[in-house]
This record gives sequence, C-alpha cells and structure tokens, in this order.
Amino acid sequence: MNIENLKKQIIEKLSKATSLKDLEIIGKEYLEEKRNISSSMKELGAKEKKELGVRLNELAKFLEEEITQKTKKIKLLEIKEKEENEFLDITLKGDNVKRGHIHPLSLAKKELEDIFTFLGFSIEEGPEVEDEWHNFDALNFPLNHPAREMQDTFFIKQNNRKELSQKEKLVLRTHTSNVQTRYMENHKPPIKIAVPGRVFRSEATDARHEVCFYQIEGLYVDKDVSVANLKAVLLRFLQEYFKDENVKIRLRPSFFPFVEPGFEVDMSCTVCNQKGCPVCSYEGWIEILGAGMVHQNVFKNCGLKDVTGFAFGVSVDRLAMMKYKIDNIRWFHSGDLRFLKQF
Ligand code: DAH
Repeated sequence: MNIENLKKQIIEKLSKATSLKDLEIIGKEYLEEKRNISSSMKELGAKEKKELGVRLNELAKFLEEEITQKTKKIKLLEIKEKEENEFLDITLKGDNVKRGHIHPLSLAKKELEDIFTFLGFSIEEGPEVEDEWHNFDALNFPLNHPAREMQDTFFIKQNNRKELSQKEKLVLRTHTSNVQTRYMENHKPPIKIAVPGRVFRSEATDARHEVCFYQIEGLYVDKDVSVANLKAVLLRFLQEYFKDENVKIRLRPSFFPFVEPGFEVDMSCTVCNQKGCPVCSYEGWIEILGAGMVHQNVFKNCGLKDVTGFAFGVSVDRLAMMKYKIDNIRWFHSGDLRFLKQF
C-alpha cells in the first residue's frame, strides 16, 4: 500500500471511530502497515528510502495528533452521555445523620464548671489513684477512722504494703478532697479552686449509691474567710445550677475530720417548692452537700499558717438527678439509649 492510500484509509477510519477502543485499533493497524512498508523499502535506493522515511514520520505525527484530538472528543461525549442518563431526584430523602447526645453527667460537670468559673474559682484536677496521705492523713483522718476501712475504700494491692509510708500506700480516691491537700502544698493563698472528678467507694449499689461517681469540690482559702462567705457561695451556685432564684439553703452541724465546724447543707426542694413530695420525703428540704471551715490541722499538714478557709464537696450525680428528676443513679452508667437520648 502506498502512503497516500494509507493516509486516506486512516482518515476514513478515524471519522468512523466512536470509542477509545476504535482509536486503539486504528493505531495498531497503522503500526502494522508501517512495518510492511518498511520491509518493502529494502530494495529501494538511499535517496528514495530517505524520502519515504520522512513521509512516514509525517504520517505518524499526523496520526498522533488526530488520535489525541479524537480521544478528547470521545471522553467529553462519554461524560455528557452519562450526565444525560443520570436522573437527579431532588425530592429524594437525604441520609439521616444521627446526632449524638452529651451524657447528662458531662452536661452537669460542664455547667458546674461554668458556674464556679463565673464565681471566680479556677478549675483544677487531681489523681484518681491517690496515696493515703493526701486522701486521708493530711485531711486529718485519724488512722483508725471508719472511712478507711475495707467497706469504703478500694485499696491498691501492693506486695510490701505494710512497710510503706502513708505517702506510698495507694488507694482509689474516695473523694475529691484529696486535691485540697495537693493544691495547698504547692500554692499560696488566696486559693479559690473548684475540682470536678471521679471518686470510688466500695459500697453496695442501690438507687442512690454507685461504686464510682462524680464529685465537685470547692476550696477557698484566704485571710478572714467566714461561714457567711461559704453560705453566699453555696446559695449562689445552687440558684445558678437549678436556675431558680427561690432556692434556699440551711446548714446543719455535722462531722467531717477536715473541717471545723462542719455542716451538712440542705436545699429547699425544687420539685415541690417545699409543699412536700416523695422526692424530699415530705420534708421540703433535701440534703445536698457537705461543707465546713477548713480544719487548722489540714492547713498545718499543708504548710499554711494564719489563714482561714471553707471547703465543700458535692456529688455531681446527685445534683444532676435532682435537676433532671432522675430516680436512680444507675441510669447514668446503663448505656440505655432511651435514657441518654433525652439530653
Ligand atoms: N469529702 C466528703 C465526702 O466525700 C464531702 C465533703 C464534706 C467535702 C465536707 C468537703 C467538706 O470539702 O468540707 O463525703
């Protein structure tokens, strides 16, 4: 076949090609023809050979350009065709993206942190695995205090426990009060901290008790801090948390080794407004937290002198239960979506 004819043939085939596959075939056919022509070139003289070579190259270049152009066109056509066949139904329902929920305890913790920050307290944290010194001794618990006994405290197994000092024996902290002593050892008054955290008690669980629950501890140390300051802070924090200006509190004398005097604090029942209901056992008051004026022995154990202060500790679980009227503490760890989805 001569080159002119070959070119004609190629042009014709290219005009009929409708797919990338067609183009591929045309390319292959050309290579084959080129080989045929080259082998028949052997008998030709040098001049003719050269001329033919040049023309073959021109044809190759022409073909390459044509194929590139055509490929582009075919690809565009394919996309267009696909788009035309695609049916977009904008009335179709979208994917239902499920939103998660904040756990009620996280919610309570966050709200409490915001309130105490607003009241000028800084938020601090401390270890959940604590030594006996910070959890008990420094807080003025006598060595034989019942709270240290097996039924309350999770002791960490340590082989040589008997030989260890109080600062080496480990327990799971039974309250967030451990952070009081840790913080006072390293900071100078005025001290104004709120400490949220997880605490552990080896207790039988019931509707109001869990082995693991959350507390928030408050500590205010300065010169001339009084019970009046304590009352003002507690009242304001409870009014803020329950979003109720009418909340009232009352203090009853009580005993905690690390405070003197110590109080149990009741708040007016927000469920019945003190008319009497099952939540407050028809008393109108609910015991809500422990508090008191920091015992001078605690200051001494932490190396502080000539200061006064108040401290309080409240169960976050308890506050959340009252706010959301949850009747059983075990709901919090149930993982039950019917419960969790309400928050
Ligand atoms: N730590 C106590 C408990 O877990 C609660 C408590 C009572 C904390 C009185 C205090 C306080 O700071 O002054 O039962």
